[in-house]
Amino acid sequence: MFGKRILLGITGGIAAYKTASLVRLLKKSGADVRCVLTPAATSFISPLVLATLSENPVHIEFWNKETGQWNNHVELALWADLMLIAPATANSVSKMANGACDNLLLACYLSLKCPCIIAPAMDLDMYQHPSFKRNLQTLLSDQVTIIPATFGALASGLEGQGRMEEPENILRFVQEFFKQAAHQKSTKRLLITAGPTLEHLDPVRYISNHSTGAMGFALAKAALMKGFEVLMIAGPSQYELQHPNFQRIDVQSAEQMLSAVQAHWSAMDLGIFTAAVADYRAANVAAEKIKKSATELRLDLVKNPDILAWAAANRTQQEIVGFALETNNQEENALKKLHDKNLDYIVLNSPQEGVSGFGSETNIITIFGAKGQKHALPLMSKFAAAQALLEILDEKTHEN
Ligand code: C5P
Repeated sequence: MFGKRILLGITGGIAAYKTASLVRLLKKSGADVRCVLTPAATSFISPLVLATLSENPVHIEFWNKETGQWNNHVELALWADLMLIAPATANSVSKMANGACDNLLLACYLSLKCPCIIAPAMDLDMYQHPSFKRNLQTLLSDQVTIIPATFGALASGLEGQGRMEEPENILRFVQEFFKQAAHQKSTKRLLITAGPTLEHLDPVRYISNHSTGAMGFALAKAALMKGFEVLMIAGPSQYELQHPNFQRIDVQSAEQMLSAVQAHWSAMDLGIFTAAVADYRAANVAAEKIKKSATELRLDLVKNPDILAWAAANRTQQEIVGFALETNNQEENALKKLHDKNLDYIVLNSPQEGVSGFGSETNIITIFGAKGQKHALPLMSKFAAAQALLEILDEKTHEN
């Protein structure tokens, strides 16, 4: 938690008195803490205590009544790595769920760019009230994380669920939250296109190619072993892969493959485009089976979108690797694609009858980088080639 900036929101419930210990615990764990209180909270905990323990001024009103100075809620909200609201009363939860903004704490909440965790506290009947449950649901769908109230003695003298979680447990929860967030951040997301595409001519016929998806699936397996999250967008392929970090979207045509890539590309860190996308599709797909009549049949074809080129033109942080299957002027053609499509790497696939290319389990690849790197790999299994490619990409990440 060292250096984590926590904006502790305190609302007006009796459990607010426990926030003195909470601030101490957060500070002891290395966090930087600033407190923002609703006016009602000041009846339950002294701002002086919180300012002393947090070693920071406490914020309550939109402006300082003595100096007239404005408390900038936007700055406070942007400062925070996490807003923790403890205790969160039924009243504040209701306002948060509805976007109300009649105090500084709510203005901070509405301006947040960071996650928010709340620890509700109230009497047992309020906790069970359908309106409170509804509001909690709204906050959940607004990506707020809830630390449920615990069971026990309540200020009303009744017993039930409604006690704010103990400060020690809130601290543990927050620590775990940061741990998980760090883990998610470090997990790289990889998009792979794989297999052939299938372009219908009529309800029973299509244009396609001999790609099987073998290289794409070998890459997915190697990437999962390295801890990537993999999204595969696959044309028709017999390969199967089960893994908690593996998601597969099945498509048929190039246009469907492009739509799937477009829907997910912005969330990716890396894209490896192994699919053998059909270059052309029928200008018009016949609604009925095309009849055999004349001795010759001419098909009007139109060019398919270049998915890889789209991804390269619409990249932000993503690294991009393309594949090139070349039979002549291999290096020259591959390098042309690397530059024309604005890629980071191109993997030249050198097809060799029976040992390399479509359908075979082995491959001969050469990897060219945009900075002039060249790695010529000998004949090896597609899985070993996939591992080698990921290693090379990794080295590049460490260079930067
Ligand atoms: O231009 P060419 O088809 O040879 O380029 C091959 C590379 O471009 C491969 O990485 C392939 O997956 C990708 N590609 C694509 N969409 C197309 C054609 C190729 O993504 N329509």
